Amino acid sequence: MKPSLKPLLASTLVGAALLGSHAHAASVDAAKMLDLARSSGCLACHALDHAKVAPSYAEIAKRYHGQPDAVRTLQQAILNGHSGTWGLIPMPAYGGSQNLLTAAQARDLARWVLSQAGGKAAP
Ligand code: HEC
Repeated sequence: MKPSLKPLLASTLVGAALLGSHAHAASVDAAKMLDLARSSGCLACHALDHAKVAPSYAEIAKRYHGQPDAVRTLQQAILNGHSGTWGLIPMPAYGGSQNLLTAAQARDLARWVLSQAGGKAAP
């Protein structure tokens, strides 16, 4: 009797599903970015998949999906703050004189936000 590949295949599929939708975010380390978002206080206002005070990262990814300058747009929003797109509450600035994040960190966070479900990080 030939050994069946089915159990192996099934466990591979489960493994892929458990890795979840972040697995394709090749350009940034999702676990590292989650830590940075947490330690920077982002998650006080944002959740990954449901709206809090601020829109979820999945919603943001969806809105900017396919826009060629999305990484830069969101990087600027993180560095300079942002208001008026999603509602009445403003997003605080993390760059400039606040100096809480570097431009590179803001860019990586922008890529990570864009890689959340429904979105796709630009290369
Ligand atoms: C005090 C609450 C608060 C914190 C803390 C916060 N945000 Fe926001 N963020 C908001 C709000 C509110 C908006 C929607 C602003 C708007 O309507 O334009 C927003 C919008 C955004 C957007 C979308 C901007 C756009 O152009 O549409 C991104 C990306 C973002 N935040 C990322 C982050 C990251 C990354 C951090 C942590 C470094 C963070 N936010 C921390 C409240 C917050």
